[in-house]
Amino acid sequence: MIVLGIESSCDETACAIVNEKRQILGHSVLSQQEHIAFGGVVPEIAARAHLEHIDEIIEATVKKANISLEEVDAIAAASGPGLIGGVVVGVMAAKALALALNKPFVAVNHLEGHALCARLSNDVQYPYLLLLVSGGHCQILIVKDVGEYERLGTTIDDAAGEAFDKVAKMLGLGYPGGPMIEKRAAVGNETRFSLPRPLIGSPDCNLSFSGLKTAVRKLIESYSPDGTLEHANIPSQDIDDICACFQYAATDCLVRKLKRAISIFKQKYPLGKDLVVSGGVAANTYLRTALQNLAQQTELIFSAPPIRFCTDNGVMIAWAGLERFEKGYINELDFKPRPRWPLDENAPKAAGAGGVKA
Ligand code: KG4
Ligand code: ZN
Repeated sequence: MIVLGIESSCDETACAIVNEKRQILGHSVLSQQEHIAFGGVVPEIAARAHLEHIDEIIEATVKKANISLEEVDAIAAASGPGLIGGVVVGVMAAKALALALNKPFVAVNHLEGHALCARLSNDVQYPYLLLLVSGGHCQILIVKDVGEYERLGTTIDDAAGEAFDKVAKMLGLGYPGGPMIEKRAAVGNETRFSLPRPLIGSPDCNLSFSGLKTAVRKLIESYSPDGTLEHANIPSQDIDDICACFQYAATDCLVRKLKRAISIFKQKYPLGKDLVVSGGVAANTYLRTALQNLAQQTELIFSAPPIRFCTDNGVMIAWAGLERFEKGYINELDFKPRPRWPLDENAPKAAGAGGVKA
């Protein structure tokens, strides 16, 4: 079984072809550089760039896979949530291919792509506990099966990646901020400044990063003669230290709330054995190490996608599409892309998910 997947929900135009033996036959990712000057993704520019490049990305992927399109069994596309202009481009391309080739179309929730991605590279069994941390989302979920999610906690304000991006922007480190913060933090002193751990005492699995971001802002402003962010003059070593303290605080929040989630998971599913992290922030080695330690302490097995497949890519969409297709979950060609699409509304037959069973 061979599935082609397309991703275009943010600023990566990507495509991949995978098979049921967990082999990646080919994949291509184009990270749009057009947004760097703006310090964040500009939806209109993203949509236009997807449109310009989607055909060549699909073509390049098929070429790498060294197969003919007729050999593909289903066409999947990230169909939401995301920037709708971009999502529409990927979905239309997938539907056109499905129609021309007379193959089924599979609408994949972008978050499900992140959620299932680790199963491609690791032996992760359902049910498992998942920390999904990306630029737009931050959730702790139990993944019971394809399309079956139970959300234990979520951020009540910023997503983790968003916090990394905003802190990086305040420090003038560019976009996306996560990789730059990680790099600077690696040579910083994480105990130099004491930063808050918002919501950490609340008896639930929810998270909050807005207070942490504000604390960093105040710290940066303290380096400014007139108290404004723009005039802050921070020595390079201090930037490293701020990055390290922020990364430490953010990771600490995630680890502490995950501890709570692990007890709930174990109570509900005593046989569950996997702790998985996914999404762009899962590319962060410091976080991966902290979660590896947490898994060890709590006798779980830690897994994460390879770093290059943590940020948006076509492989995760093709793989989630394949898992859906294997179960017979395909979609009609009139499926409407969804700018908002909570993962726990992703059940194959849930209202609005547009799923049909083959
Ligand atoms: O999953 P993703 O590519 O896009 C969304 O679905 O949002 O995640 C992008 C996010 C950005 O906020 C980026 O700063 C963050 O992932 N990120 C990182 C790292 N690499 C990417 N955050 C922390 N450390 C990293 N190494
Ligand atoms: Zn993503």
